[in-house]
Amino acid sequence: MCGIVGYIGGRDCADVLMDGLEKLEYRGYDSAGIAVFEKNARSPGGTISTVKTRGKLKCMADKLAAEGKPEGFCGIGHTRWATHGEPSDINSHPHSNGRVTIVHNGIIENYTELKEFLSEKGYSFVSQTDSEIVACLLDFYFDGSDPLRAIMETVKELRGSYALGILFKDFPDHVYATRKGSPLIVGLGDSEYFIASDIPAFLKYTKDYAILDDDEIVAIDNGGVKFFDVHGIAVKKQIHTADWDIEQAQKCGYPHYMLKEIYEQPDVVEKTLDSIITDGVPDFSGIGLTDELLRGVKRVFVVACGTAMHAGIVARYAVEKLARVPVAVEIASEFRYMDPIVGEDDLVILVSQSGETADTIASLELAKSRGAKTLAVVNVKYSAIARGADMCIHTLAGPEIAVASTKAYMVQITVLYALAFRFAYARGNILESEMKRLTAQLYNAPKAIRDVIDNKDECQFIASQLVNVETLFFIGRGFDYALSLEGSLKLKEITYIHSEAYAAGELKHGTISLIEHNIPVITVATQRNILAKTVSNMEEVKARGATIIAVCRKGTEFAEGTVDIELKLNIGDELDDMLIPLPTVCALQLIAYYTSVLRGIDPDKPRNLAKSVTTE
Ligand code: M6R
Repeated sequence: MCGIVGYIGGRDCADVLMDGLEKLEYRGYDSAGIAVFEKNARSPGGTISTVKTRGKLKCMADKLAAEGKPEGFCGIGHTRWATHGEPSDINSHPHSNGRVTIVHNGIIENYTELKEFLSEKGYSFVSQTDSEIVACLLDFYFDGSDPLRAIMETVKELRGSYALGILFKDFPDHVYATRKGSPLIVGLGDSEYFIASDIPAFLKYTKDYAILDDDEIVAIDNGGVKFFDVHGIAVKKQIHTADWDIEQAQKCGYPHYMLKEIYEQPDVVEKTLDSIITDGVPDFSGIGLTDELLRGVKRVFVVACGTAMHAGIVARYAVEKLARVPVAVEIASEFRYMDPIVGEDDLVILVSQSGETADTIASLELAKSRGAKTLAVVNVKYSAIARGADMCIHTLAGPEIAVASTKAYMVQITVLYALAFRFAYARGNILESEMKRLTAQLYNAPKAIRDVIDNKDECQFIASQLVNVETLFFIGRGFDYALSLEGSLKLKEITYIHSEAYAAGELKHGTISLIEHNIPVITVATQRNILAKTVSNMEEVKARGATIIAVCRKGTEFAEGTVDIELKLNIGDELDDMLIPLPTVCALQLIAYYTSVLRGIDPDKPRNLAKSVTTE
């Protein structure tokens, strides 16, 4: 949600900013802009040139070509995902009041009262954004000589979340930044420096970076980088080195990131397994998640959003089945406000690809404040959730750029299965030999996923049957229900087809009234212990005219006339039914992907969506 980039160094700033913004496109945006200190303006009162527009970066590039690119070596850029005020040229960032120019990610919750205060002081506003207020407040507190003090005074007044990139007109070739609740990192190159919402924005130039913590301020000029706390005291920061390489953050010949990321799944599952399996069994003692701790847990909560929450539903079925511990799966935006009954006997698992999702961060803080043990399952190293939780398991999906989460979900469920096995063993519910057998089965998943990818034509065919439909349903029971939820979300977010997922047995309690002639019902039917029940539900919708698309194991036979299209996964006894979601979800991802492409949609950047939801 919104992308920030800033640069100071020897390169053409506008080019670096545009390149960085392109790398942040995945975050979702509807307008963009840059502000650059003109190179001949290196004395106080210098010129800052701003170019901004509604629309995608192509519109920015066209505008820069038409109006002339600002020439300089220091500036800030932004992609905006509209919250306050429609996407328009005027609401796009950067915002300026003449002396101060800013880009902002987040939401200023008290902007109305600040606007009133500033209006009384004679400020006027041109946009409908909350962000413009920040530029004016900075100006109000700026005495002409001390930018750091102006920032310190300003942030004292702000409520909500923000990452800010700031230029002061009187301080040419200086970039300032601060943050609270929205991510911001500082890239440290060779005599060149960056600020950014995420690593890919500067990965091409440097892998070294520091993470700005909440309330910290960074001041950057050609001489280097200085960090300060909220009181203006200098702080020393740890330097991290990104373990992603530039290829991982590029399409590498694939038409879309989403397809590339689907194809990467067998490898990232293997890599993730290797990082958590020792001597053939899952071992989390290195992060403090010991058998003793697992034995003492009375309840588990899995708290997350969207796809990560769906991974939690798979975890619930697996942990309850094997470890016999009650598991509640909670949507983070609900959990944080529902005054949950959670305490020191509980383990709260926060699942997140980005590690920066605002509601999940707030849920983590709440769980900690109630004394619960917290475990993060997070893909982005050093992200807020990874750093905030008591314990963290890193999934090794590598950078996930497409908005629709695929490989991150795959490794989330991989880790959560392994955790379920260890949980069950620690509590004496399964023997070590069974834990070993199950772990060996997990290692069979990459091959099974590869097989689904090799047979992608079948998913393409199903996509061709869905391309013109307006509404459809996914149904399933148990693990198949968890998969239905994820398959449905994937499909609707990138195809804009209305899709709903139901526990197969629940449909006749209301929703079956929506079933009409030829409405597709994608039935996930991999769980053999309840197959007969699922088949009954298929028959019910078939009798009302639905077109049944069944996703099942090889060898599954349905009575003649029940199923219209079958997708039989080539999976035998190498995967227990409990683990079959691993390859099955890949088929559902491919169906969503091909349907999106056939509908002429860019699956990497679906409308209205942002990759990291850093505001609530
Ligand atoms: O970064 P997170 O895993 O915390 O993100 C959670 C959701 O926003 C995310 O999974 C979202 O639902 C995806 N777009 C789904 O594909």
